[in-house]
Amino acid sequence: MDQLYVGLMSGTSMDGIDAVLVRFLESSVDILATHSRPYPPDLQQALLVAIRKPLSEDLDTSGELHRRVGACFRDAALHVIAESGADRDSVRAIGSHGQTLRHRPNAKQPFSLQVGDADIIAAGTGITTVANFRQADIDVGGQGAPLVPPFHEWLLRSDTVNRVVANIGGIANLTILPADGADTTGFDTGPGNGLMDAWTRQHRGTAFDVDGDWAGSGTVINGLLQQMLCDPYFKLAAPKSTGFEYFNPHWLEQFQVQKYAAADVQTTLCELSVQSIADALRKHAQDAQQLFVCGGGVRNRTLMKLLQKALEGCEVLSTTQAGLDPDWVEAVAFAWLAMRTVNGQSGNLPSVTGASHKVVLGDIHSP
Ligand SMILES: Nc1ncnc2c1ncn2[C@@H]1O[C@H](COP(=O)(O)OP(=O)(O)O)[C@@H](O)[C@H]1O
Ligand SMILES: [Mg+2]
Repeated sequence: MDQLYVGLMSGTSMDGIDAVLVRFLESSVDILATHSRPYPPDLQQALLVAIRKPLSEDLDTSGELHRRVGACFRDAALHVIAESGADRDSVRAIGSHGQTLRHRPNAKQPFSLQVGDADIIAAGTGITTVANFRQADIDVGGQGAPLVPPFHEWLLRSDTVNRVVANIGGIANLTILPADGADTTGFDTGPGNGLMDAWTRQHRGTAFDVDGDWAGSGTVINGLLQQMLCDPYFKLAAPKSTGFEYFNPHWLEQFQVQKYAAADVQTTLCELSVQSIADALRKHAQDAQQLFVCGGGVRNRTLMKLLQKALEGCEVLSTTQAGLDPDWVEAVAFAWLAMRTVNGQSGNLPSVTGASHKVVLGDIHSP
């Protein structure tokens, strides 16, 4: 098991690529190097346009994005390996999530489309690269998401404490880890930081609300919050998954948000993320004793404060307190999934995705 793996992740926030070089031990992980690589601004803009305006994207654009994103992922991999000082030969595989442009698990022809050409990564690094992790699960009836829960289960399940992991990126997802050995479950709860990011971009011209200070400065607009919480996604039974192609600025427009004070809308969006997570816990994990939060949401102090307020009796913690840096959990998870794939082991949890059975995930690209 003493081999190195690289994990490459870019989530719905499109804030850039997270890269890790890790070594997996019996029941723990050593993070040997990390690297975070922002997209060049024009590429990020092109990706945001592609995802926000679903009808505007043509085939030439997606072909070009596939190549450009692939090159960025390759560079992130090369950088994190160089940073660690490790020999490339000692890296068994790279797991690359790619950048999601469409996630349509419920379409008539269900699919999940990530760009970021893995052949560019394999050729440029000389390392076997696993990519396109979601489709195999979709092909056996699953949502193709979330895929991180089996990794959370492997690393964070306790025999004595009912734990839940909340990964709060652009979208938020939960992993419920019952101490009694019952099946792990998990699903996307809805918006994480994505709507707040979009609103901040629109009104403050910055990529996100640093520390959640702006969200902390307003007042929740209760009527608006209740209207938003009526969205059918929140009532949908699990398994379910969603993305920025649903919870995005278009989604916000239906509530005529422009008529309210911008700061109050931000506070309300923060509360929306919190309440949708808290509702999901009340419904599916009443006995939760610890909620471990990872993803960029950990840094939003207002979000963390409101979460603790909403979840009386459940301790809200950062995954740091379980020995795992919250910034790198997802990238490590894709390194772990790549390890499963090259070892011929399944990577999905049917109790999470709704797939009919366990399957080996991803396409293997040889250098
Ligand atoms: N210092 C910070 N204060 C508040 N929010 C932050 C901070 N740093 C990161 N974030 C939030 O985290 C997001 C990125 O989280 P990440 O877990 O990378 O999401 P994704 O997986 O969707 O890329 C940013 O878009 C931002 O909303
Ligand atoms: Mg990110």
